[in-house]
Amino acid sequence: MPHARFTHLLNQQRSYLPPEHGKSSAWICGEEDYTAICRQALEDPQDFWNARASLLLHWFKRWDRVLEADEVNHKYRWFTGGKLNAAFNCIDRHLISGRRNKAALIWQGEDDMAKRCYTYQMLYTEVCRMAHALSSLHIRKGDQVALYMPMIPELVIAMLACARIGAVHTAIFSGYAEGGVRSRIQDARARVVITADGAIRAGKVKPLKANLDPILEKCPSVAHVVVVRHAGIENVNMKGRRDIWWHDLVDDFTLNADFPCEAMDANDPLFLLHTSGSTGKPTGIMHSTGGYLTYAAHSTQWCFDMRDDDVYWCTADMGWITGHTYGVYGPLALGATTIMFEGVPTYPKPDRYWRIVENFRVNILYTAPTVIRSLMREGEAWTERYEHNSLRILATVGEPINPEAWHWFHKHIGDSELPIVDTWWQTETGGAIISPMPYATRLKPGSACKPLPGIDAAVLPSPAQDGEDGDGAGHLVIRKPWPGMMLGVFNDEAKYQSYFSRFGCYESGDGARVDEDGYFWILGRIDDSINVSGHRLSTVEVEAVLTSCPDIAEAAVVPMPHLLKGEGIYAYVLTRDEVPWSDALRKSLRDAVRRDIGPLASPEYIQFVEAMPKTSSGKIIRRMLRKIAANALEELGDTTALANPQALPAIIRGHQNLLQGLPESAPAEEGGEVFAGGSE
Ligand code: WTA
Repeated sequence: MPHARFTHLLNQQRSYLPPEHGKSSAWICGEEDYTAICRQALEDPQDFWNARASLLLHWFKRWDRVLEADEVNHKYRWFTGGKLNAAFNCIDRHLISGRRNKAALIWQGEDDMAKRCYTYQMLYTEVCRMAHALSSLHIRKGDQVALYMPMIPELVIAMLACARIGAVHTAIFSGYAEGGVRSRIQDARARVVITADGAIRAGKVKPLKANLDPILEKCPSVAHVVVVRHAGIENVNMKGRRDIWWHDLVDDFTLNADFPCEAMDANDPLFLLHTSGSTGKPTGIMHSTGGYLTYAAHSTQWCFDMRDDDVYWCTADMGWITGHTYGVYGPLALGATTIMFEGVPTYPKPDRYWRIVENFRVNILYTAPTVIRSLMREGEAWTERYEHNSLRILATVGEPINPEAWHWFHKHIGDSELPIVDTWWQTETGGAIISPMPYATRLKPGSACKPLPGIDAAVLPSPAQDGEDGDGAGHLVIRKPWPGMMLGVFNDEAKYQSYFSRFGCYESGDGARVDEDGYFWILGRIDDSINVSGHRLSTVEVEAVLTSCPDIAEAAVVPMPHLLKGEGIYAYVLTRDEVPWSDALRKSLRDAVRRDIGPLASPEYIQFVEAMPKTSSGKIIRRMLRKIAANALEELGDTTALANPQALPAIIRGHQNLLQGLPESAPAEEGGEVFAGGSE
């Protein structure tokens, strides 16, 4: 198990009981309640999901069957025959349920004075206008629309307008650079891209539209680009008939123009979202309309104990699945008030989150461990300035929360009493899979606790024991289908099947352990992914950029423990003959990664090596490189199988020198100019 570094978490003895106050009115009001529901849900899952889907959503037509399962091909179709529309569920039905003038979406811009609030009625109006607008661009049910946008309300409006038409939206994180954006638009074959003149981030403007222009030359599927004026960039280059300003486009449609919702089949795709898989190519995860939305509403209600008067804030960017499920679809399906924040936690000062909590009296805060660690580093003075007694539930996602951060969050934000809901899940799972129920679960810091009712999660040993799964650790799998499960992988059936090939059921790619109380402890990715600040990146993708540089012969990219980011990227590179090792080369490699994938993927360390450790069949042994990067030399294991054991001592020496800022040894006898390395 490569990520054994989290095993120290298993020794955490202390646990925390759920709060008494609020328990009696909670959706799941205590451990017995939870256990009874779990039992019932596992005994008759179809009955359970049948009830949840009926209760939580409005269906134009009820389903014929709760689940149609093709176990041979691992195809699971939920609520077959059912008809619904996600936008109708997230907006229209609230107009007649007494929530018409309730705040649906509150937006806080990076500038503290920039705030916007949309009631459900206002959201309805804007979504209808945009649906008309997209329709005027010939977007129809089943077409793909890419959203390369900053965190602004137009992004939510665009998502829901697509849902209203039945178009499939595919959001692209605005922090991605050229390669990441291009490959996603191309893979999705998007017909329209919606973007903005620029994204504002920590006081700087990133020109999204200008970045997009050269990319679009290689994306022939794109007929139109819709541009939101947001960052005040002047002289935006608008290309002839292709590019249209958002405000001009919607201006053609009156404010009272209803756009009728398309009645979607429960298994029509709602959206496509790419994630980094174990190959270099991003994996286009497809989610269904009926099953996904049911699961989004269901898990939002139970994990966050969502009540009608709650103000809820999920801090995730809409470019990730968390933004989709818990920033938009889950809360809006429940008729809640959701907050959207454009800025970063620490700009201009590290008080942004606490200001927002006080300003809007946030009740539920859902964020990432990496954010907590960065705010923790700034000290409590920033948190103490603001009232946060409106908070009722704290929650995290994206990576294991280390006990230090857990305790800090609990003490300084949760006044030592609020529950911390550590949710484990993935793009593929649609919603939270393992998570405490805030008023029912005894918490153990660092553990995501137990599966949600209706979820059959388990930890299985490798089918062919490779001797690495010590300590009861194994592969985290989900044995039975659930409604939030991905519909498929866009245009890549083989990739979809690969999730099921090893165990015959869904394999998450994470390692985990279950303790004696049935609590799950996530140990991190087993496959070739790195989790940087809760963002999943593919090592193969980074390696591909490095080796595309003419000076580089081979590259191996591995995760390394990082105090703030959880994991950082450590790259070993082998230069081509005669190419000297230099800091300039390091910089150009980093620049290449930033340019192609984005700053998020920039390696912390780049180590030049004379040779990679290899098997006799010539495969790089990344497992050993990972141990070296993590300074876990005692865990290197059996090195006798190496084809070139002499390579290891030099790599270890090079690593130590790199960390200490000393020169690495030269690649060849005569050597080149050698410089000390360092992290950014
Ligand atoms: C990791 C994000 C530990 C895990 C929702 C998973 C976590 C990957 C947790 C999915 C958690 C997510 N504890 N690890 N609470 N939540 N992960 O697809 O490795 O962007 O496989 O979905 O993040 O990342 P993704």
